Amino acid sequence: MGAQLRTERLLLRPALARDAGALHAIFVQPEAMAYWSRPPHAEMAETHDWLAGMIAIPPDQGEDFIVTLDARVIGKAGFWRFPEIGFILDPAFWGQGYAQEALEAVIGRAFAVHRLPHVTADVDPRNRRSLALLARLGFQETGRAARTWHVGGVWCDSIYLRLDAPE
Ligand SMILES: CC(C)(COP(=O)(O)OP(=O)(O)OC[C@H]1O[C@@H](n2cnc3c(N)ncnc32)[C@H](O)[C@@H]1OP(=O)(O)O)[C@@H](O)C(=O)NCCC(=O)NCCS
Repeated sequence: MGAQLRTERLLLRPALARDAGALHAIFVQPEAMAYWSRPPHAEMAETHDWLAGMIAIPPDQGEDFIVTLDARVIGKAGFWRFPEIGFILDPAFWGQGYAQEALEAVIGRAFAVHRLPHVTADVDPRNRRSLALLARLGFQETGRAARTWHVGGVWCDSIYLRLDAPE
């Protein structure tokens, strides 16, 4: 069993096979998936595949967490592959600081335990909420690139950001 992280309001824990239904309910939502690397999941099988990949992350290569609030799955936050951070919350739980709270815990652990020198992010320039969250956490833009992702037949761009570990 991997690590669990407790924050003021949340419990972050490793993914379990039984999380598929709750994750699917998030991954089907166009609002949640508007700037994701894949279109909204059309089939449960896509979520099963995605979750199997999350559960199989080699511990030396990444560490990803299911975000829960009062035992309810509300999203995920962590590293599919170090040092790039990835996160998604059910839109019903946006606007309450939960993503910030989860990322502070995950990133704090990445620096303190995994000893990463920095954490990176790759964000669609239109993803205002994600950019605002990362700015609040102290991330700085390091570059931009056009047509980096081809999602559902549409080319999307990237802003690259980085947060350095504290001295
Ligand atoms: C990116 C994402 C996680 C941001 O969610 P979020 O709820 O906006 O982020 P935060 O947790 O930082 O919450 C910030 C909001 O909560 C408010 N808030 C309320 N209580 C708060 C608290 N205790 N602490 C901090 N903020 C609080 C803030 O004022 C802010 O409000 P605003 O949206 O009206 O400006 C969410 O939009 C998402 O899941 N998007 C889809 C997936 C995605 O694009 N992921 C990123 C790929 S790079």
